[in-house]
Amino acid sequence: MLDNNPIGIFDSGLGGLTVMKEVISQLPNENIVYFGDTARVPYGTRSHETIKKYALQDANFLLKNDVKVIVAACGTVSAVASGEFKDYKVPYFEMITPAAIAAVKATKTNKIGVIGTPATIKSCEHKHRILELLPAAQIFANACPLFVPLVEEGITDSNNFVLNEIAKKYLLPLKEQNIDTLILGCTHYPILSDVISKIMGNKITLINPGEELAFSLKNYLTDNDLCAENKTPKHNFFVSDMTVSFQKTARFLLDENINELNAKQVDINKI
Ligand code: DGL
Repeated sequence: MLDNNPIGIFDSGLGGLTVMKEVISQLPNENIVYFGDTARVPYGTRSHETIKKYALQDANFLLKNDVKVIVAACGTVSAVASGEFKDYKVPYFEMITPAAIAAVKATKTNKIGVIGTPATIKSCEHKHRILELLPAAQIFANACPLFVPLVEEGITDSNNFVLNEIAKKYLLPLKEQNIDTLILGCTHYPILSDVISKIMGNKITLINPGEELAFSLKNYLTDNDLCAENKTPKHNFFVSDMTVSFQKTARFLLDENINELNAKQVDINKI
C-alpha cells in the first residue's frame, strides 16, 4: 500500500528546514507540507504552557492539509510539548528519542553532553530518555541561547571571533567533563558543527537529531507500507509571518537546490 498524502513538518520558525533537508535526503519521493511559526519564534525562551499551546495550533494547521504523519522539527517542542501528542490523530515524531538512541549507541565512556535552548535544557527530556536506555550514563547539559540569533544573522563561520568566544563559554564546561558524544538539541546547531567540533575536538561524536529523526521516520513509513512514490514530489511552505529575513535565513538553513521557497502566509490564530 502506498500513501501519497504529505508528511507534515512544523517548527517555531525556519530552523526546522534543517530537519526537512534530512527528511528530503532520506525520503526523496514524499510530498511535504512545512509550517514555520515565524510570527511567534523563538519558542525556546517561552513558558511550557505557551509552547504546548503553540505546538498544538501548528500541528492542527498541518492536519488540515491531510498529512499522514506530523513531525515536530523543533528541539523545544519535542522536549516540552510531546506529551500533548500522545493520542493524536496521526502518528507523531519528535527529535528527543532518536537523538537519545543514537547517543547511547555512539558513546563509549557513557558521558554524553546535550546542548539546546533554555526551555529544552530545563525540561531534562534528553536526560530522562538517555537514562531509560542506559542507566549508567552521565549527562551534562548546557543551554546556548545565543546560538539561534547568531545563525539567523548568518554568523556561522568557525573563524568568527564573536562566535568562537560565545561557543567556548557554552561548550568548554562540557568538554571539561570529558564527554565523548554531544547531542545538538536544537534545529540551528548542526549549522554550527564546524565551530562546535573545533572547540570540542574531533574525537567527539556530534549527534544531529534531524538526521536521526529522518532515519526513524523512514523506517516507520517503510515498515507500515506508507511510503509515497512521487516522481515529482511537492514541497509546500507556510509561515505565520513573511519576515524580511525569511529568504536570508532560509539560505543559511537549506541546500542551494531547495533555495527557492514559495511560501504562503497563514493566520495561525484563525486555524
Ligand atoms: N527551533 C527551535 C529549537 O529547535 C529553536 C528556535 C526557537 O527557540 O524557537 O529548539
